[in-house]
Amino acid sequence: MSKILFENVSINPQILNLKESATLKVNQQVKSQRARGEKVYHFGFGQSPFPVHRKIVQTLQENANKKDYLPTLGLLELRKQIAEYYRQNFNYNFNPEHMLIGPGSKELIFQCLYALEGPVIIPAPSWVSYGPQVNIRGKKFISPMTSRENNYKLTSKDLEFVCETMPVDQQKILIINSPNNPTGQVYTDQEIEGLTRVCRDNNIIVISDEIYGMIDFTNIKKKGFSFYYPEGTIVTAGLSKSHSAGGYRLGFLAAPKNMEKLVKALSALVSETFSAVSAPIQYAAVTAYSMDPEIEESLRICNKIHEYIGHYIYYRLQKMQIECPAPEGAFYIFPDFINYKKELHKKYDIQTSLQLAEVLLTEAQIALLPGSDFYLPSSSLTARMSTVDYEGDSLYQSALDCRGEMSIDFVQKNAPRIVEGLNSLESFLSGCGV
Ligand SMILES: Cc1ncc(COP(=O)(O)O)c(C=O)c1O
Repeated sequence: MSKILFENVSINPQILNLKESATLKVNQQVKSQRARGEKVYHFGFGQSPFPVHRKIVQTLQENANKKDYLPTLGLLELRKQIAEYYRQNFNYNFNPEHMLIGPGSKELIFQCLYALEGPVIIPAPSWVSYGPQVNIRGKKFISPMTSRENNYKLTSKDLEFVCETMPVDQQKILIINSPNNPTGQVYTDQEIEGLTRVCRDNNIIVISDEIYGMIDFTNIKKKGFSFYYPEGTIVTAGLSKSHSAGGYRLGFLAAPKNMEKLVKALSALVSETFSAVSAPIQYAAVTAYSMDPEIEESLRICNKIHEYIGHYIYYRLQKMQIECPAPEGAFYIFPDFINYKKELHKKYDIQTSLQLAEVLLTEAQIALLPGSDFYLPSSSLTARMSTVDYEGDSLYQSALDCRGEMSIDFVQKNAPRIVEGLNSLESFLSGCGV
């Protein structure tokens, strides 16, 4: 009998065409370059660099012996705690019976997209993973363009325009993310209200991805999609960004009461896939969402740092005549190199955002993600810069020491790679002959 080597295994075509997530890929690339001793300024990866609060870590340790499977919806105590946390902080009215705990909100968004029928609308730019998740489901998505003039936010007019091409009563899905990755922008109440009116009129279910919901510098209490459109909004969030605990893999999904059927379907899907999130992590998350004043204060300090560094980068980019909206939340900034278009083309033959990213890496040691990874046309010359390439532990301690009174000196001392990276960008651009 001949031996089969399975080198040519047959793979589901939906998966075969998938590429590794752009953000994870650039991170691996920078790690290996750094391991070879090469200098790279890492504006490519979006991981909050601060330590997980010691009280959360302590609860995790204390619960390491919790070995039983938990319910597929997640630990009831945790769902109740999250509902209360969001009631106090956002005025949301989540019902623990209609919430699910998952291994990160990414998986829950995926399961939700898997369960729901209908075309999916993903505004451009948007987070890299929504599109592939829709593709895995064997569907295409519609990606209405936003504009820099409108701070890359989807308007109700844009949404109305998309809906014109589809039957009004066909169920549709819109994924909205605010504060936004990749743009750092935050939707106002007025913008949200306008969008939800169009959603209601056009049978659109909103997946409101609020993973950066607590990293909002605008200091304006928002009402959110689930306030204006409770019957049609599913909220997802988790510990990854606000609590700097991406590796804990703890997210949640909250659906409205009228979507009981969806919750049941998702609960069955969970039971047939990941079963339940690791028990010790769920117990630790109860502490994370306990409104403990010490933990809340630490989140406030982390946010102040995100805000300050984000604004420092914005200020430097502005001095370089690079167009981009001022950061309002999350830890990203979304520059457009349009003012350098001619020079970049002439000197490096750059015509796409991918070519720009490649040249910036080789010529200026700057790693960032091209705008095309976020569904923008390849010719847009935009990029996403993450604002977190510093040592979170020591920077956090320095912020405590100066009681949150940060200055440019503070950034220079505590986030030297950010400063040097921007210096490198500046000299690269002036070398382009502008
Ligand atoms: C916009 C956005 N949504 C969702 C996620 C997923 O977060 P997690 O699965 O860690 O909860 C991320 C993570 O990078 C993100 O940037």
